[in-house]
Amino acid sequence: MNKLFQPVQVGSLTLKNSIVFAPTSVGREGLDFYEKIAKGGASLIILPDISVIPSMLGAPSLGSLQYADYFRKVVEICHRYDCKVSVQLFHPEYDVDYIGSLYRQRGKISSDEVHRLLAENMMGYADTLTTEQADAIVEKFAAAARNAREVGVDMIQIHGDRLIGSFSSALFNHRTDRYAPHTAFAEAVVKAVRAAVPEMPLDYKLTIRTEEPKLGRGGALISEVPEFVEVLEAAGVDAFHVAIANHSNIRDTIPAANHPLLQGEGCFTHLGRAVLTMARKPVCIVGKLQHTDAMEALLEEGFAMVGMSRQLVADPEWPNKVQSGQTDSIRYCVYCNSKCVASIMSGQPVSCILWDNANETKEVNA
Ligand SMILES: Cc1cc2nc3c(=O)[nH]c(=O)nc-3n(C[C@H](O)[C@H](O)[C@H](O)COP(=O)(O)O)c2cc1C
Ligand code: SF4
Repeated sequence: MNKLFQPVQVGSLTLKNSIVFAPTSVGREGLDFYEKIAKGGASLIILPDISVIPSMLGAPSLGSLQYADYFRKVVEICHRYDCKVSVQLFHPEYDVDYIGSLYRQRGKISSDEVHRLLAENMMGYADTLTTEQADAIVEKFAAAARNAREVGVDMIQIHGDRLIGSFSSALFNHRTDRYAPHTAFAEAVVKAVRAAVPEMPLDYKLTIRTEEPKLGRGGALISEVPEFVEVLEAAGVDAFHVAIANHSNIRDTIPAANHPLLQGEGCFTHLGRAVLTMARKPVCIVGKLQHTDAMEALLEEGFAMVGMSRQLVADPEWPNKVQSGQTDSIRYCVYCNSKCVASIMSGQPVSCILWDNANETKEVNA
């Protein structure tokens, strides 16, 4: 028991405990919020969706060193609390120039139409890239990894969803070139990043989908997990982070309390087990985790880390409260998705109904 607060080794990096703040878009720069999470006792913050090309909406990216000061500041703040920082590197799964032009016409085209065209573009994008264009994107991951090292982050997470998720999924990849095998693009990215920053701890967010029942769209089919794990470990990953991805549709990715299938604490654990049985590297599992008993059981089973997104949004002090025995004062997430998700969808800083007033919480719990 009490594995939660034992140190965890990922490559050359030692985490003070096994509690991870899963990648969570927090809106704007999020410095104050990251400080709350770091101060609250989590051992690792994974900065979400850090693009390897300049972001259409001006979010900090690592396609260049333009935002170096921002990343250095996040690292400096988190390190004050012995909390490590990872960056989740991704490439968008759509044609950025085309979608940018749609957004610029938003007054003339309805937002429903923008979303329809975005979905249409996304369906074909991975197939339209030439082999040379795909190679160039692989190199952008390597360059972003070098920039990540330059700004002083502790770890890199390759986001196995978004464009990599498209290449990994039979629903989006109908290619006939050397990127036709579902593992091929992911493998190329991991190898390129490993070669660019040989000494840095490298994590891979392995997003998994199932056909029966239909859950998720981007990433590896559950039957393909053994091949993905073998190929990615050989390519150089030091850890896996397991979740589900639905390509711009958050229904399965961030399942609400009333999701028909992804119910209860540890709702992605069946996917995590598919990785755990194969992996030689540490595995982090997420999915509606919020109670220590459930997490200790997962750690006993062999998972190395437990990731929380919404529970730590609801109460960033969760780790400190658990460690000091103040569990009565924990604010427990109710998986309503009504504020954390809604705020980021509307471009606002992340928020939570439990931050406002206790009565609202009781209503949702009832
Ligand atoms: C507000 C919000 C934003 C998120 N943003 C990202 C993201 O940028 N990248 C990512 O890989 N996952 C993102 N996620 C998904 C989480 O990392 C996690 O997989 C999911 O929420 C399930 O964990 P939970 O039940 O602990 O919330 C987000 C989740 C939430 C609630
Ligand atoms: S808004 Fe709802 S789902 Fe989001 S963190 Fe708060 S309680 Fe959880």
